[in-house]
Amino acid sequence: MPAVRVEKILEEPELYIIRVDDDRIKYFEATWDIPEGITYNAYLMKLKDAVVLFDATKAEYADLFLEKLKELVNPGEITHIIVHHTEPDHTGALPKVLEANGYKAQIIGTAFARNLLEGFYGEEVVKNFKIVKDGEELQIGGRTFRFITVPWLHWPDTMITYVVEDKLIFSCDAGGGYGIPETIDDSDEEVVQKYLPYVTKYIVTVIGHYHKYIVQNIKKLKGLGIIDDARMILPGHGLIWRKNPARVFEYYEAVGAGKVTKGKVLVLYDSMYGFVERRMEIVIDELRKNGLNPVVYRFTDKEAPAVSDILGEVPDSEALIIGASTYEAEIHPRIRYALYEIVDKANYEKPVLIVGAFGWGGVAGRKIETLITRSKFDHVDTVESKGAPGPEDEEKLREAVRKLVAWLS
Ligand SMILES: Cc1cc2nc3c(=O)[nH]c(=O)nc-3n(C[C@H](O)[C@H](O)[C@H](O)COP(=O)(O)O)c2cc1C
Ligand SMILES: [Fe+2]
Ligand SMILES: [Fe+2]
Repeated sequence: MPAVRVEKILEEPELYIIRVDDDRIKYFEATWDIPEGITYNAYLMKLKDAVVLFDATKAEYADLFLEKLKELVNPGEITHIIVHHTEPDHTGALPKVLEANGYKAQIIGTAFARNLLEGFYGEEVVKNFKIVKDGEELQIGGRTFRFITVPWLHWPDTMITYVVEDKLIFSCDAGGGYGIPETIDDSDEEVVQKYLPYVTKYIVTVIGHYHKYIVQNIKKLKGLGIIDDARMILPGHGLIWRKNPARVFEYYEAVGAGKVTKGKVLVLYDSMYGFVERRMEIVIDELRKNGLNPVVYRFTDKEAPAVSDILGEVPDSEALIIGASTYEAEIHPRIRYALYEIVDKANYEKPVLIVGAFGWGGVAGRKIETLITRSKFDHVDTVESKGAPGPEDEEKLREAVRKLVAWLS
């Protein structure tokens, strides 16, 4: 069973985190390789006349969660359960929590959330459901709870809670990341530095399809003046942000907008027998000659990087270079899959250069070109040829890289 960390975060109001450190998961959403694991964070606030639970955990850890919850409170005393987002990584344990609670707690969420919860867990779970609208406030235990919808972060049901008097933002998926950080919060910069790449990976793989909404929603929260003012941001995954709460949303905004790291070029290719690779070596050499920094991921008979990791490299790259072989009149399967995910989850306005190799009839280059021209990416050039690259191919490849470099400057 995974470890569960229960820690007191604040004295006033009395606030705890119940963090399930899932080191057993291999593929988040049955897709994304996360050897780094993930945490599901729930929070419990004990007020004068109310006990509020913010989100829960995955179904498979419901018993474990209840066991830890019972160390903090008799579940029957929970008066309110706030459901920010109904994805079962936060709600799977809800039916068991409610059962232990005797169905006394009022569940608070959006109308969308009510509908989804009923679909997932049946009528019983939404019997005592309070639908809240964007900006609505409820007085609970002497505090003002303001609910702000942040649609598509990560589902249409999603909202955050702002506890007005204490300036606390409970943000669920928004502000979250993969990984199981050694600390609960951002107090240790070393932990933060190790964690931030997992935040990017989480953003792209989980919320990337809706990345324009990241920028929109953060603009909305900034407009409400609650980010700069926040005392703490408490997400549903990963670190709590209390040393510098605004930092995580600034980071989210940068990833959502595809803010670049100067000189970084993502080079991605497959090579079964080395012909694509020989082309990519020329490309990489020309990139370096032009002062750029290629970050290389390749699929060969010895290595197969995780697409989730590749996706995490896209937002801050200045450009992409995709190398592919033609495979049964198609794009090589590994690149095909990676590309489909890139144009879906990390669809940014960035230049792309395509390199292809084939045996008897090139198809990969044209098919990649079609995918790229239909996306937000800009197509710079396609250099595709047969077999081993000759001197003429080499010149074309170098020229194409120089064209890409000119595009960037
Ligand atoms: C399983 C397989 C399927 C292939 N299918 C095609 C094809 O449909 N059309 C083609 O022109 N070449 C095809 N080829 C040839 C490769 O595209 C060509 O050898 C290319 O140079 C491979 O580059 P690599 O050595 O970097 O993998 C195929 C090769 C393999 C091994
Ligand atoms: Fe989610
Ligand atoms: Fe989540």
